[in-house]
Amino acid sequence: MATETTLPNDLSSFWIPFTPNRQFKKSPRLLVEAEGMYYTSSTGTKVIDSSAGLWCVNAGHKNPRIIEAIQRQVSELDYSPTFQVAHPKAFELANKVRDLAPDGMENVFFTNSGSEAVESALKIALAYHRAKGEGQRIRLVGRERGYHGVNFGGISVGGIVNNRKVFGSLLTGVDHLRHTHQPELNAFSKGQPEHGKELAEDLERICALHGPETIAAVIIEPVAGSTGVLVPPVGYLERIREICTKYDILLIFDEVITGYGRLGEAFAAIHYDVKPDMITCAKGLTNGVIPMGGVVVTKDIYDAFMTGPEHLIELFHGYTYSGNPVACAAGLATLETYREDGLFERAKSMTPYWEDCVHSLKGLPNVIDIRNEGMIGAVELEPMPGEPGRRGFEVFVDAFEKGLLVRVTGDIIAMSPPLIAEKTHLDEIIGIFEKVLNEGK
Ligand SMILES: Cc1ncc(COP(=O)(O)O)c(C=O)c1O
Repeated sequence: MATETTLPNDLSSFWIPFTPNRQFKKSPRLLVEAEGMYYTSSTGTKVIDSSAGLWCVNAGHKNPRIIEAIQRQVSELDYSPTFQVAHPKAFELANKVRDLAPDGMENVFFTNSGSEAVESALKIALAYHRAKGEGQRIRLVGRERGYHGVNFGGISVGGIVNNRKVFGSLLTGVDHLRHTHQPELNAFSKGQPEHGKELAEDLERICALHGPETIAAVIIEPVAGSTGVLVPPVGYLERIREICTKYDILLIFDEVITGYGRLGEAFAAIHYDVKPDMITCAKGLTNGVIPMGGVVVTKDIYDAFMTGPEHLIELFHGYTYSGNPVACAAGLATLETYREDGLFERAKSMTPYWEDCVHSLKGLPNVIDIRNEGMIGAVELEPMPGEPGRRGFEVFVDAFEKGLLVRVTGDIIAMSPPLIAEKTHLDEIIGIFEKVLNEGK
Protein backbone atom coordinates (compact mmCIF):
# COMPACT_ATOMS: atom_id res chain seq x y z
CA MET A 1 0.00 0.00 0.00
CA ALA A 2 1.35 3.42 -0.91
CA THR A 3 1.94 5.84 1.90
CA GLU A 4 2.27 9.59 1.95
CA THR A 5 6.07 9.24 1.96
CA THR A 6 6.04 7.50 -1.44
CA LEU A 7 4.32 10.48 -3.05
CA PRO A 8 6.19 13.29 -4.79
CA ASN A 9 6.20 16.57 -2.89
CA ASP A 10 7.14 18.62 -5.95
CA LEU A 11 4.98 18.33 -9.03
CA SER A 12 6.53 21.23 -10.90
CA SER A 13 8.97 19.61 -13.35
CA PHE A 14 6.93 16.96 -15.09
CA TRP A 15 5.26 18.50 -18.16
CA ILE A 16 2.25 16.21 -18.25
CA PRO A 17 1.13 15.15 -21.75
CA PHE A 18 -2.39 15.80 -23.05
CA THR A 19 -3.35 17.22 -19.63
CA PRO A 20 -4.29 20.65 -18.31
CA ASN A 21 -1.11 20.92 -16.21
CA ARG A 22 -2.13 23.77 -13.93
CA GLN A 23 -5.44 22.22 -13.00
CA PHE A 24 -3.78 18.86 -12.41
CA LYS A 25 -1.05 20.24 -10.21
CA LYS A 26 -3.63 22.00 -8.05
CA SER A 27 -5.57 18.78 -7.50
CA PRO A 28 -3.50 15.84 -8.70
CA ARG A 29 -4.93 12.46 -9.59
CA LEU A 30 -2.13 10.05 -8.79
CA LEU A 31 -2.32 6.33 -9.33
CA VAL A 32 0.01 4.30 -7.16
CA GLU A 33 -1.03 0.68 -7.56
CA ALA A 34 -3.01 -1.54 -9.91
CA GLU A 35 -4.40 -5.04 -9.92
CA GLY A 36 -6.84 -6.69 -12.31
CA MET A 37 -9.64 -4.21 -13.04
CA TYR A 38 -8.63 -1.60 -10.46
CA TYR A 39 -6.20 1.17 -9.78
CA THR A 40 -5.56 2.52 -6.31
CA SER A 41 -5.11 6.27 -6.07
CA SER A 42 -2.69 8.01 -3.74
CA THR A 43 -5.59 8.81 -1.43
CA GLY A 44 -6.35 5.09 -1.13
CA THR A 45 -9.47 5.19 -3.35
CA LYS A 46 -10.09 2.14 -5.51
CA VAL A 47 -10.64 3.31 -9.08
CA ILE A 48 -12.19 0.92 -11.56
CA ASP A 49 -10.42 1.09 -14.91
CA SER A 50 -13.04 1.46 -17.62
CA SER A 51 -10.46 2.48 -20.21
CA ALA A 52 -7.83 -0.27 -19.86
CA GLY A 53 -5.35 2.47 -19.00
CA LEU A 54 -5.16 4.17 -22.39
CA TRP A 55 -6.91 1.38 -24.32
CA CYS A 56 -3.96 -0.91 -23.74
CA VAL A 57 -4.27 -3.09 -20.63
CA ASN A 58 -6.46 -5.69 -22.35
CA ALA A 59 -5.40 -8.54 -20.02
CA GLY A 60 -5.94 -6.47 -16.88
CA HIS A 61 -3.34 -5.05 -14.55
CA LYS A 62 -0.39 -6.91 -13.05
CA ASN A 63 -0.87 -10.11 -15.00
CA PRO A 64 1.50 -12.63 -13.36
CA ARG A 65 2.57 -14.29 -16.64
CA ILE A 66 3.62 -10.97 -18.14
CA ILE A 67 5.42 -9.84 -14.99
CA GLU A 68 7.34 -13.09 -14.76
CA ALA A 69 8.34 -13.02 -18.46
CA ILE A 70 9.68 -9.49 -18.12
CA GLN A 71 11.64 -10.30 -14.98
CA ARG A 72 13.16 -13.39 -16.59
CA GLN A 73 14.09 -11.52 -19.76
CA VAL A 74 15.78 -8.66 -17.94
CA SER A 75 17.96 -11.08 -16.05
CA GLU A 76 18.81 -13.05 -19.23
CA LEU A 77 19.32 -10.52 -22.03
CA ASP A 78 18.49 -6.98 -21.00
CA TYR A 79 19.15 -5.26 -24.31
CA SER A 80 20.20 -6.25 -27.77
CA PRO A 81 20.14 -4.15 -30.90
CA THR A 82 18.22 -5.41 -33.89
CA PHE A 83 20.42 -3.57 -36.41
CA GLN A 84 22.79 -6.09 -38.03
CA VAL A 85 22.45 -8.44 -35.02
CA ALA A 86 19.24 -9.61 -33.37
CA HIS A 87 17.85 -11.93 -30.70
CA PRO A 88 15.47 -14.90 -30.93
CA LYS A 89 12.42 -13.40 -29.26
CA ALA A 90 12.02 -10.70 -31.91
CA PHE A 91 11.52 -13.43 -34.52
CA GLU A 92 9.25 -15.44 -32.23
CA LEU A 93 7.03 -12.46 -31.55
CA ALA A 94 6.88 -11.43 -35.22
CA ASN A 95 5.77 -14.98 -36.07
CA LYS A 96 3.05 -14.89 -33.42
CA VAL A 97 1.76 -11.55 -34.66
CA ARG A 98 1.78 -12.91 -38.22
CA ASP A 99 -0.24 -15.92 -37.07
CA LEU A 100 -2.88 -13.59 -35.60
CA ALA A 101 -3.03 -11.31 -38.65
CA PRO A 102 -5.23 -11.83 -41.72
CA ASP A 103 -3.87 -14.31 -44.29
CA GLY A 104 -1.06 -13.00 -46.42
CA MET A 105 0.06 -10.38 -43.88
CA GLU A 106 3.35 -12.01 -43.08
CA ASN A 107 5.97 -9.50 -42.00
CA VAL A 108 6.24 -7.30 -38.96
CA PHE A 109 8.33 -4.16 -38.42
CA PHE A 110 8.69 -3.35 -34.71
CA THR A 111 8.45 0.14 -33.23
CA ASN A 112 8.01 1.50 -29.70
CA SER A 113 4.63 3.16 -29.94
CA GLY A 114 1.60 3.62 -32.08
CA SER A 115 2.89 6.96 -33.32
CA GLU A 116 6.08 5.33 -34.54
CA ALA A 117 4.12 2.50 -36.11
CA VAL A 118 2.17 5.08 -38.12
CA GLU A 119 5.32 6.94 -39.22
CA SER A 120 6.86 3.63 -40.23
CA ALA A 121 3.79 2.55 -42.21
CA LEU A 122 3.63 5.85 -44.10
CA LYS A 123 7.34 5.63 -44.94
CA ILE A 124 7.00 2.01 -46.02
CA ALA A 125 4.10 2.97 -48.29
CA LEU A 126 6.12 5.66 -50.06
CA ALA A 127 9.22 3.48 -50.35
CA TYR A 128 7.19 0.50 -51.55
CA HIS A 129 5.78 2.36 -54.52
CA ARG A 130 9.19 3.68 -55.37
CA ALA A 131 10.63 0.17 -55.22
CA LYS A 132 7.90 -0.89 -57.66
CA GLY A 133 8.83 1.90 -60.08
CA GLU A 134 5.92 4.14 -59.08
CA GLY A 135 7.80 6.92 -57.35
CA GLN A 136 5.13 9.41 -58.43
CA ARG A 137 2.84 8.04 -55.70
CA ILE A 138 3.72 10.63 -53.10
CA ARG A 139 0.34 11.54 -51.65
CA LEU A 140 -1.12 10.25 -48.40
CA VAL A 141 -4.78 10.31 -47.51
CA GLY A 142 -6.15 10.32 -43.97
CA ARG A 143 -9.57 11.21 -42.62
CA GLU A 144 -11.10 14.11 -40.72
CA ARG A 145 -11.24 13.31 -36.99
CA GLY A 146 -8.65 10.55 -37.44
CA TYR A 147 -6.01 10.04 -34.76
CA HIS A 148 -2.71 8.52 -35.77
CA GLY A 149 -0.48 9.56 -32.91
CA VAL A 150 1.45 12.74 -32.46
CA ASN A 151 4.46 12.67 -34.77
CA PHE A 152 4.56 14.80 -37.89
CA GLY A 153 3.35 12.13 -40.32
CA GLY A 154 0.63 11.07 -37.93
CA ILE A 155 -0.72 14.56 -37.30
CA SER A 156 -0.53 15.32 -41.02
CA VAL A 157 -2.79 12.43 -41.97
CA GLY A 158 -4.70 12.82 -38.70
CA GLY A 159 -7.75 14.99 -38.54
CA ILE A 160 -8.07 16.27 -34.98
CA VAL A 161 -7.80 20.02 -35.24
CA ASN A 162 -6.19 20.76 -31.87
CA ASN A 163 -3.48 18.18 -32.56
CA ARG A 164 -2.56 19.93 -35.83
CA LYS A 165 -3.25 23.62 -35.80
CA VAL A 166 -0.27 25.00 -33.88
CA PHE A 167 2.38 22.77 -35.44
CA GLY A 168 3.14 24.50 -38.71
CA SER A 169 2.40 23.33 -42.21
CA LEU A 170 2.88 19.59 -41.57
CA LEU A 171 3.57 17.16 -44.43
CA THR A 172 2.69 18.34 -47.91
CA GLY A 173 0.70 16.20 -50.32
CA VAL A 174 -1.83 15.06 -47.76
CA ASP A 175 -5.60 15.06 -48.18
CA HIS A 176 -8.44 13.95 -45.93
CA LEU A 177 -11.62 11.97 -46.39
CA ARG A 178 -14.75 13.28 -44.75
CA HIS A 179 -15.40 11.82 -41.33
CA THR A 180 -18.32 9.46 -40.84
CA HIS A 181 -20.09 11.06 -37.89
CA GLN A 182 -23.75 11.72 -38.76
CA PRO A 183 -25.62 11.95 -35.47
CA GLU A 184 -28.69 13.34 -37.22
CA LEU A 185 -29.04 9.95 -38.95
CA ASN A 186 -27.31 7.52 -36.64
CA ALA A 187 -27.67 8.69 -33.02
CA PHE A 188 -27.90 5.85 -30.50
CA SER A 189 -26.91 3.22 -33.06
CA LYS A 190 -25.97 -0.13 -31.58
CA GLY A 191 -22.82 -1.39 -33.27
CA GLN A 192 -22.27 -0.28 -36.86
CA PRO A 193 -24.48 2.65 -37.90
CA GLU A 194 -26.79 1.99 -40.80
CA HIS A 195 -26.18 5.24 -42.69
CA GLY A 196 -22.96 6.49 -44.21
CA LYS A 197 -21.55 3.87 -46.59
CA GLU A 198 -21.71 6.49 -49.35
CA LEU A 199 -19.14 8.62 -47.48
CA ALA A 200 -16.51 6.19 -48.80
CA GLU A 201 -17.14 7.71 -52.23
CA ASP A 202 -15.25 10.73 -50.95
CA LEU A 203 -12.13 8.74 -51.79
CA GLU A 204 -13.22 8.79 -55.44
CA ARG A 205 -13.43 12.58 -55.21
CA ILE A 206 -9.89 12.79 -53.82
CA CYS A 207 -8.62 10.41 -56.49
CA ALA A 208 -10.27 12.49 -59.21
CA LEU A 209 -8.82 15.70 -57.76
CA HIS A 210 -5.20 14.56 -57.52
CA GLY A 211 -5.06 11.66 -59.96
CA PRO A 212 -5.17 8.25 -58.26
CA GLU A 213 -1.73 7.41 -59.67
CA THR A 214 -0.24 10.04 -57.33
CA ILE A 215 -1.66 8.49 -54.15
CA ALA A 216 0.51 6.09 -52.15
CA ALA A 217 -1.77 5.15 -49.26
CA VAL A 218 -4.98 5.72 -47.39
CA ILE A 219 -4.79 5.42 -43.60
CA ILE A 220 -7.86 5.09 -41.40
CA GLU A 221 -8.79 3.70 -38.03
CA PRO A 222 -11.40 0.96 -38.58
CA VAL A 223 -13.11 2.34 -35.46
CA ALA A 224 -11.94 5.88 -34.81
CA GLY A 225 -11.14 5.89 -31.10
CA SER A 226 -9.49 9.04 -29.82
CA THR A 227 -11.90 11.40 -31.55
CA GLY A 228 -14.65 9.92 -29.43
CA VAL A 229 -15.47 6.52 -30.94
CA LEU A 230 -16.85 6.60 -34.48
CA VAL A 231 -17.93 3.16 -35.61
CA PRO A 232 -17.72 2.55 -39.38
CA PRO A 233 -21.09 2.61 -41.14
CA VAL A 234 -22.22 -0.70 -42.62
CA GLY A 235 -20.41 -1.25 -45.94
CA TYR A 236 -18.05 1.73 -45.55
CA LEU A 237 -14.77 -0.13 -44.99
CA GLU A 238 -15.58 -2.57 -47.79
CA ARG A 239 -16.07 0.32 -50.23
CA ILE A 240 -12.83 2.03 -49.17
CA ARG A 241 -11.05 -1.28 -49.80
CA GLU A 242 -12.62 -1.59 -53.26
CA ILE A 243 -11.54 1.89 -54.30
CA CYS A 244 -7.99 1.39 -53.01
CA THR A 245 -7.72 -1.90 -54.89
CA LYS A 246 -9.08 -0.32 -58.07
CA TYR A 247 -6.29 2.28 -58.08
CA ASP A 248 -3.44 0.23 -56.50
CA ILE A 249 -3.46 2.49 -53.44
CA LEU A 250 -2.25 0.84 -50.24
CA LEU A 251 -4.81 0.68 -47.45
CA ILE A 252 -3.45 1.04 -43.92
CA PHE A 253 -5.67 0.16 -40.98
CA ASP A 254 -4.47 1.90 -37.86
CA GLU A 255 -5.38 -0.73 -35.28
CA VAL A 256 -3.53 0.73 -32.34
CA ILE A 257 -6.82 0.64 -30.40
CA THR A 258 -8.74 -2.09 -32.19
CA GLY A 259 -5.85 -4.58 -32.30
CA TYR A 260 -5.58 -7.49 -29.89
CA GLY A 261 -9.14 -8.31 -29.01
CA ARG A 262 -11.01 -5.05 -28.55
CA LEU A 263 -13.64 -6.14 -31.09
CA GLY A 264 -13.49 -9.83 -30.18
CA GLU A 265 -10.89 -10.77 -32.81
CA ALA A 266 -7.16 -10.24 -33.00
CA PHE A 267 -7.73 -7.37 -35.43
CA ALA A 268 -10.67 -5.30 -36.66
CA ALA A 269 -9.63 -6.38 -40.16
CA ILE A 270 -10.77 -9.88 -39.19
CA HIS A 271 -13.88 -8.67 -37.39
CA TYR A 272 -15.04 -6.68 -40.42
CA ASP A 273 -13.58 -9.13 -42.92
CA VAL A 274 -11.84 -6.34 -44.80
CA LYS A 275 -8.16 -6.89 -45.47
CA PRO A 276 -5.83 -3.91 -45.53
CA ASP A 277 -2.28 -3.95 -46.91
CA MET A 278 -0.77 -2.83 -43.62
CA ILE A 279 -1.89 -2.84 -40.00
CA THR A 280 -0.36 -0.58 -37.40
CA CYS A 281 -0.60 -1.79 -33.83
CA ALA A 282 0.78 -1.09 -30.34
CA LYS A 283 -0.91 -0.85 -26.90
CA GLY A 284 -2.47 -4.33 -26.44
CA LEU A 285 0.58 -5.95 -28.05
CA THR A 286 2.35 -5.85 -24.68
CA ASN A 287 -0.69 -5.13 -22.51
CA GLY A 288 0.74 -1.63 -22.23
CA VAL A 289 3.35 -2.82 -19.75
CA ILE A 290 6.40 -2.17 -21.93
CA PRO A 291 6.15 0.29 -24.83
CA MET A 292 5.98 -1.47 -28.18
CA GLY A 293 4.30 -1.11 -31.54
CA GLY A 294 4.51 -2.67 -34.95
CA VAL A 295 3.54 -2.55 -38.61
CA VAL A 296 2.22 -5.76 -40.11
CA VAL A 297 2.58 -5.83 -43.90
CA THR A 298 1.62 -8.17 -46.71
CA LYS A 299 4.22 -10.48 -48.19
CA ASP A 300 3.90 -8.52 -51.41
CA ILE A 301 5.06 -5.36 -49.68
CA TYR A 302 7.96 -7.06 -47.92
CA ASP A 303 9.04 -8.85 -51.09
CA ALA A 304 9.07 -5.61 -53.05
CA PHE A 305 12.00 -4.51 -50.89
CA MET A 306 13.93 -7.78 -51.08
CA THR A 307 15.76 -7.00 -54.29
CA GLY A 308 19.25 -5.74 -55.14
CA PRO A 309 22.58 -6.95 -53.72
CA GLU A 310 22.09 -9.00 -50.56
CA HIS A 311 24.69 -7.13 -48.50
CA LEU A 312 22.77 -3.85 -48.82
CA ILE A 313 20.15 -2.60 -46.36
CA GLU A 314 16.72 -2.74 -48.01
CA LEU A 315 14.89 -0.18 -45.84
CA PHE A 316 16.75 2.67 -44.20
CA HIS A 317 14.50 2.87 -41.18
CA GLY A 318 14.45 1.55 -37.61
CA TYR A 319 14.62 2.53 -33.95
CA THR A 320 17.23 1.77 -31.28
CA TYR A 321 14.50 -0.09 -29.42
CA SER A 322 12.84 -1.82 -32.41
CA GLY A 323 12.21 -5.33 -31.13
CA ASN A 324 13.70 -4.60 -27.70
CA PRO A 325 14.10 -7.99 -25.95
CA VAL A 326 12.17 -7.03 -22.82
CA ALA A 327 9.32 -5.66 -24.93
CA CYS A 328 9.36 -8.86 -27.00
CA ALA A 329 9.19 -10.98 -23.85
CA ALA A 330 6.25 -8.88 -22.66
CA GLY A 331 4.61 -9.25 -26.08
CA LEU A 332 5.03 -13.02 -26.15
CA ALA A 333 3.62 -13.40 -22.64
CA THR A 334 0.74 -11.07 -23.48
CA LEU A 335 -0.24 -12.94 -26.64
CA GLU A 336 0.03 -16.20 -24.72
CA THR A 337 -2.28 -14.78 -22.05
CA TYR A 338 -4.84 -13.74 -24.64
CA ARG A 339 -4.75 -17.27 -26.09
CA GLU A 340 -4.69 -19.28 -22.86
CA ASP A 341 -7.35 -17.18 -21.16
CA GLY A 342 -9.50 -16.94 -24.31
CA LEU A 343 -9.72 -13.17 -23.94
CA PHE A 344 -10.69 -12.41 -27.53
CA GLU A 345 -13.57 -14.89 -27.34
CA ARG A 346 -14.47 -13.47 -23.97
CA ALA A 347 -14.65 -9.98 -25.44
CA LYS A 348 -16.93 -11.26 -28.17
CA SER A 349 -19.29 -13.02 -25.76
CA MET A 350 -19.38 -10.04 -23.38
CA THR A 351 -20.17 -7.53 -26.16
CA PRO A 352 -24.01 -7.82 -26.06
CA TYR A 353 -24.03 -7.32 -22.29
CA TRP A 354 -21.69 -4.33 -22.59
CA GLU A 355 -23.87 -2.88 -25.36
CA ASP A 356 -26.91 -3.07 -23.10
CA CYS A 357 -24.97 -1.51 -20.23
CA VAL A 358 -23.78 1.44 -22.28
CA HIS A 359 -27.15 2.06 -23.93
CA SER A 360 -28.88 1.96 -20.54
CA LEU A 361 -27.49 5.49 -20.06
CA LYS A 362 -29.84 6.84 -22.77
CA GLY A 363 -32.18 9.45 -21.35
CA LEU A 364 -29.86 10.57 -18.55
CA PRO A 365 -29.15 14.32 -18.29
CA ASN A 366 -27.18 15.80 -21.20
CA VAL A 367 -26.69 12.51 -23.04
CA ILE A 368 -27.09 13.25 -26.77
CA ASP A 369 -25.63 10.09 -28.32
CA ILE A 370 -24.33 6.66 -27.34
CA ARG A 371 -22.12 4.51 -29.58
CA ASN A 372 -20.59 1.09 -29.10
CA GLU A 373 -18.69 -1.65 -30.91
CA GLY A 374 -17.02 -4.69 -29.37
CA MET A 375 -15.77 -3.78 -25.92
CA ILE A 376 -15.85 -0.07 -26.68
CA GLY A 377 -18.55 2.35 -25.61
CA ALA A 378 -18.93 6.12 -25.84
CA VAL A 379 -21.36 8.63 -24.46
CA GLU A 380 -21.59 12.04 -26.08
CA LEU A 381 -22.74 14.88 -23.86
CA GLU A 382 -24.37 18.17 -24.75
CA PRO A 383 -21.59 20.80 -24.60
CA MET A 384 -22.08 23.62 -22.10
CA PRO A 385 -23.09 26.77 -24.01
CA GLY A 386 -19.94 28.54 -25.22
CA GLU A 387 -17.64 26.16 -23.34
CA PRO A 388 -17.00 23.06 -25.41
CA GLY A 389 -15.15 20.36 -23.49
CA ARG A 390 -16.02 21.68 -20.07
CA ARG A 391 -18.84 19.29 -19.32
CA GLY A 392 -16.79 16.31 -20.49
CA PHE A 393 -13.87 17.31 -18.30
CA GLU A 394 -16.07 17.85 -15.26
CA VAL A 395 -17.66 14.44 -15.75
CA PHE A 396 -14.19 12.90 -16.02
CA VAL A 397 -13.01 14.54 -12.77
CA ASP A 398 -16.21 13.71 -10.91
CA ALA A 399 -16.08 10.09 -12.11
CA PHE A 400 -12.49 9.78 -10.93
CA GLU A 401 -13.39 11.12 -7.53
CA LYS A 402 -16.19 8.57 -7.35
CA GLY A 403 -13.82 5.73 -8.27
CA LEU A 404 -14.14 5.42 -12.05
CA LEU A 405 -11.47 6.09 -14.68
CA VAL A 406 -12.84 7.00 -18.13
CA ARG A 407 -11.30 8.63 -21.21
CA VAL A 408 -12.51 12.05 -22.19
CA THR A 409 -12.30 13.77 -25.59
CA GLY A 410 -14.07 17.10 -25.58
CA ASP A 411 -17.58 16.28 -24.42
CA ILE A 412 -17.35 12.60 -25.31
CA ILE A 413 -16.66 9.97 -22.67
CA ALA A 414 -15.10 6.77 -24.01
CA MET A 415 -14.78 3.44 -22.24
CA SER A 416 -12.90 0.29 -23.22
CA PRO A 417 -12.60 -1.97 -20.18
CA PRO A 418 -9.93 -4.64 -19.87
CA LEU A 419 -11.13 -7.82 -21.55
CA ILE A 420 -11.01 -9.69 -18.24
CA ALA A 421 -14.01 -7.67 -17.00
CA GLU A 422 -16.82 -9.64 -15.35
CA LYS A 423 -20.43 -8.52 -15.72
CA THR A 424 -20.26 -7.19 -12.16
CA HIS A 425 -17.36 -4.91 -13.19
CA LEU A 426 -19.34 -3.59 -16.14
CA ASP A 427 -22.31 -2.97 -13.84
CA GLU A 428 -20.05 -1.12 -11.42
CA ILE A 429 -18.66 1.09 -14.23
CA ILE A 430 -22.13 1.98 -15.49
CA GLY A 431 -23.45 2.45 -11.95
CA ILE A 432 -20.84 5.08 -11.11
CA PHE A 433 -21.23 6.75 -14.50
CA GLU A 434 -24.99 6.94 -14.02
CA LYS A 435 -24.54 8.58 -10.65
CA VAL A 436 -22.12 11.14 -12.10
CA LEU A 437 -24.53 12.01 -14.91
CA ASN A 438 -27.50 12.26 -12.59
CA GLU A 439 -25.68 14.53 -10.18
CA GLY A 440 -24.00 16.61 -12.93
CA LYS A 441 -24.81 20.16 -13.81
C1 LIG B 1 -5.38 4.82 -33.68
C2 LIG B 1 -4.16 5.30 -32.96
N1 LIG B 1 -3.01 5.44 -33.64
C3 LIG B 1 -1.89 5.83 -33.05
C4 LIG B 1 -1.86 6.11 -31.71
C5 LIG B 1 -0.61 6.59 -31.07
O1 LIG B 1 -0.07 5.65 -30.22
P1 LIG B 1 1.03 6.07 -29.15
O2 LIG B 1 0.36 6.95 -28.16
O3 LIG B 1 1.50 4.74 -28.61
O4 LIG B 1 2.11 6.76 -29.89
C6 LIG B 1 -3.02 5.97 -30.96
C7 LIG B 1 -3.04 6.26 -29.51
O5 LIG B 1 -4.06 6.31 -28.87
C8 LIG B 1 -4.20 5.56 -31.60
O6 LIG B 1 -5.36 5.43 -30.94
